Amino acid sequence: MDLVFLAVKSTQLEAATPWLTALCRPGTVVCVLQNGVNQEASVAPYVPGSPVVPAVVWFPAQAQPDGSVLLRGDAHLTLPDVPASGMVLEALRGTWCSVDVAADFTSVAWRKLMQNAVAGLMVLAGRRSGMFSRDDIAQLSLNYLRECLGVARAENAVLGDEVPREILDYFQANPADAGTSILYDREMGHPLEWIIRNDVIRQRGRSHGISTPISDVVVPLLAAGSDGPG
Ligand SMILES: NC(=O)c1ccc[n+]([C@@H]2O[C@H](COP(=O)([O-])OP(=O)(O)OC[C@H]3O[C@@H](n4cnc5c(N)ncnc54)[C@H](OP(=O)(O)O)[C@@H]3O)[C@@H](O)[C@H]2O)c1
Repeated sequence: MDLVFLAVKSTQLEAATPWLTALCRPGTVVCVLQNGVNQEASVAPYVPGSPVVPAVVWFPAQAQPDGSVLLRGDAHLTLPDVPASGMVLEALRGTWCSVDVAADFTSVAWRKLMQNAVAGLMVLAGRRSGMFSRDDIAQLSLNYLRECLGVARAENAVLGDEVPREILDYFQANPADAGTSILYDREMGHPLEWIIRNDVIRQRGRSHGISTPISDVVVPLLAAGSDGPG
């Protein structure tokens, strides 16, 4: 294939690699529709010679039991400004999925990661977006987002002091029953993407000497919820 979209959860990547082997040759563009900031590093070893294009996925989609997909909002992707993105833009031109190319992809990806990280609190509470209207959850979310912001900036993301508040505003404006894919996985007893959505912030923080006290509580609880034992 000239172009492959990889859209499995990070927890399913290993099991999906036979597809990559079958579909890719050197030069195949592999566009990774996954959360996180580590897509290139995690996928590149499975597709030698192929450019790996990470995509920030902005649309909330939830598979339904009847096989349909509930899409809240418009389908939109952000890609990095690299030559291989051109093939993705061309393939999706004129479709329902709009695409933009970001000159500063790092900042866009870290902003989305912050949104994903704080969404993990829904797993721990067992509640959907409505919980962000509580004052105590709002304050916890802001504190967690500010912790993430410090790590994001150390990773060269250019994000202002207003970003944590904007992300909280987003969750507070969501329909009360709007969830997040990591919550749906929890509800179905599936493994959670806690490494790419939350632990990465703790790890990168550690590498920069930044303390992450909220991550240090959130991450082990998500990890245990995902992987047990017990
Ligand atoms: N859902 C969202 O709203 C959303 C938004 C932004 C980003 N993301 C990110 O996008 C990524 C994908 O999430 P998702 O919500 O789309 O996941 P999903 O609904 O669980 O879909 C994963 C798909 O991968 C397939 N799959 C799993 N293992 C496979 C294998 N070994 N071989 C072939 N196909 C396999 C599954 O098929 P079966 O159903 O047959 O198992 C399913 O169709 C995640 O990193 C997530 O964080 C999701």
